[in-house]
Amino acid sequence: MAEAQAQQRGGYAEDVSAERLAEIGLRLEVDGEIATITLDRPEKRNAQTFATWSALARIGETLPEQVRVVVVKGEGPSFSAGIDLRMFTSEGVPGQGSFSSAAASEGADLEQLISQAQAGFLWLRRPEIVSVAAVQGHAIGAGFQLALACDLRIVADDVAFCMKEPALGLVPDLTGTKPLVELVGLAKAIDICLTARTVHADEAMRIGLAEQVVVRGDLEQTVHDKVAQLLSTNRDAAVATKRLLQGARARTLEEQSAAERLEQAARIRALFP
Ligand code: ACO
Repeated sequence: MAEAQAQQRGGYAEDVSAERLAEIGLRLEVDGEIATITLDRPEKRNAQTFATWSALARIGETLPEQVRVVVVKGEGPSFSAGIDLRMFTSEGVPGQGSFSSAAASEGADLEQLISQAQAGFLWLRRPEIVSVAAVQGHAIGAGFQLALACDLRIVADDVAFCMKEPALGLVPDLTGTKPLVELVGLAKAIDICLTARTVHADEAMRIGLAEQVVVRGDLEQTVHDKVAQLLSTNRDAAVATKRLLQGARARTLEEQSAAERLEQAARIRALFP
C-alpha cells in the first residue's frame, strides 16, 4: 500500500496517455464537448484498482475546458464488478499492495490513500460538466459508487446494483453514501447497503436510482440522445443552473431565492452587456 501511495503521488498519477490508460484498463475519448471514459477490462468485469481511481482523478484534473458532458461506461457484460478482489489477498494487486498491507500503515496515511481514491469520483460532480453513467449488468461496490458519482444514470434492463461493502466488512467509502441517501432516502439506503442485496432495473427506476431504463441494445443510442439534449442548452446557463440545484438542499428557501437572484443577475448582464 505504501508503494501505491508513492506511485499515486508521482508515477502513474501523472500519466493519462492512451497506453498507460490501456494498461490500467481504461479508455478516454474526447470529441469536442463530450468526453467518454470507458472501463475497459471486460474479462475481469471492469474490476477497479487504486490505479483506476488515480487515473480517473488525473482525467478529471486534465479534462479539456471545452468538455461539457462526461459519459462513464463499461465495456462488456458488466459496468463494473467493483474493487479488484486481489486487494483482499495477501499478495494484493501487483505494485498496489493489499488491504492487509494497508492495515499496517499509520491511520493518517490510510485515510490519505482513501482520499486519493475518492478524488477519482469527486470531480464528476463539478458544475462545469454533466456526468452520465451508462450502466449495464453488474454495478457492484465501487462500480455502484462510480455510477452514483455521476449526475445521471441511464441503465439497461439487466442492471444489477449492489452495495457489497458491508458484506465484506467494509463501508462504502468512494463518495457513494451521500448521493445514495439523497436519491433514495435514508431508510432505503440502509436497506440497500446493510443487506447488500441487488437492486434490479424496475426498482432502480422506481426509487430514483435511474433516470431511464432501456433494453440493453438501446443503451448506447439512448445515452447519445441524452448527451445531445444536454448540449442543446446554453453552456453558461447550464453551469449556473447546476450550481444552483446542487446547493438547493443545503439552503433555506430564502437563501436559495437569494442564490437564484445572484446567478440570474450575472446571466442577464452577460446576455445584455
Ligand atoms: N475483482 C477481480 N476479478 C474479478 C472481479 C473483481 N471484483 N469480478 C470478477 N472478476 C473476474 C473473475 O475472477 C473472472 O476471472 P477469470 O476468468 O480469470 O476466472 C472474470 O472476472 C469473470 O468473472 P465471472 O464471475 O466468471 O463473471 P460473471 O459474469 O459470471 O459474474 C459478477 C460477474 C457477478 C460480477 C461476479 O464476477 C462477481 O460476483 N464478482 C465479484 C464482485 C465483488 O464482490 N466485488 C467487490 C465489491 S466491494 C467494493 O467494490 C469495495
